[in-house]
Amino acid sequence: MQNGKNIMEYDTVALDEEQNAVVIIDQTLLPGRTELVSLKTAREIRDAIYLLKVRGAPAIGVAAALGIYVLAKEIAERDFEEFYAGFCEYKDYLDSARPTAVNLSWALKRMEAVALKAGRDEKKSVAEVKEALRREALSIWKEDIEVCRRIGENGLKLVQPGAGILTHCNAGKLAAVRYGTATAPIYLGQERGYHFRVFADETRPLLQGARLTSFELAAAGVDVTLICDNMCGAVMSAGLVDAVFVGCDRVAANGDTANKIGTSVVAAVAKHYGVPVYICAPTSTIDLDTPSGKEIKIEERPGDEVTEMWYKERMAPEGVKVYNPAFDVTNHELIAGIVTEFGIVRAPYETGLKAIMKSALEQVDV
Ligand code: MRU
Repeated sequence: MQNGKNIMEYDTVALDEEQNAVVIIDQTLLPGRTELVSLKTAREIRDAIYLLKVRGAPAIGVAAALGIYVLAKEIAERDFEEFYAGFCEYKDYLDSARPTAVNLSWALKRMEAVALKAGRDEKKSVAEVKEALRREALSIWKEDIEVCRRIGENGLKLVQPGAGILTHCNAGKLAAVRYGTATAPIYLGQERGYHFRVFADETRPLLQGARLTSFELAAAGVDVTLICDNMCGAVMSAGLVDAVFVGCDRVAANGDTANKIGTSVVAAVAKHYGVPVYICAPTSTIDLDTPSGKEIKIEERPGDEVTEMWYKERMAPEGVKVYNPAFDVTNHELIAGIVTEFGIVRAPYETGLKAIMKSALEQVDV
């Protein structure tokens, strides 16, 4: 805790206009220490995303939107085209931080579109373009809160009070600005006295479930039990789990979804035990340009995350080969529904996802 504050009282990502900085909670220090960090340079912003100081698809998108505004504000320019060239350099640099979560490029593209409309189409001054970028970054931030709350409302329709819910990784408030995606139904249920029993997978190798999910759910007073990743079959076979709620980093057009490594294993085990798996995803995570999971680029991370990080001493022989994909793809056949802010998409996903994206454009629920 910083100043005795509960983690639930912080925004995961925010804009400090006075300092012209993106302020994040450094998630690599949790749960031991709650420290806020101000990011001002392109290097600081990109590193914070790559090093998982700020992580989780929606939070990465919001950090990128606020970050590109902070950087754009400092561009000294003579005219729009000169400004735009500098903007694009920053945009590509931030976009290269992590490949799997589509929210990163989604947010940057949205910011770019605003700059182009104001500067090229409407011939506004560079100062006005910067102001348009400020407004857009803040709306992306604000929308994230509302979108997650609506995912929570929709997800809540899928479970009964007292239900057992299993989640993997952290798709919680620490992965978004506030409610999170997979945790949004849990938090709304908590407010309404639903008394859910939540199982949080520890989520090897970076322990987002242990360090972040169990931390924030416990801080919110939710009944949470931490389990190792290889225990999901045990709790499901004991009848303790009524539904799986997970987040995701990219939904392909056919409904395949990429999420934290191990999600596909949970989904396969859940299928075996007849437990429905729900993917909670804002429409900003749906990527109709990616036909199926096969085309999703999966980030590979350094081997030391598996062999020594989080251990007091190295836990694997020196020189051993390590494979460390950060995400895996859950086949759409294992998914019972994709819960978005505009409604729940069910199979066949190709048509359902197209319809939900259309309703997102028109801002209406399905
Ligand atoms: O590597 P991370 O910690 O960024 O991975 C995060 C996840 O896989 C989350 O489940 C996903 O981004 C959804 S967050 C609402």
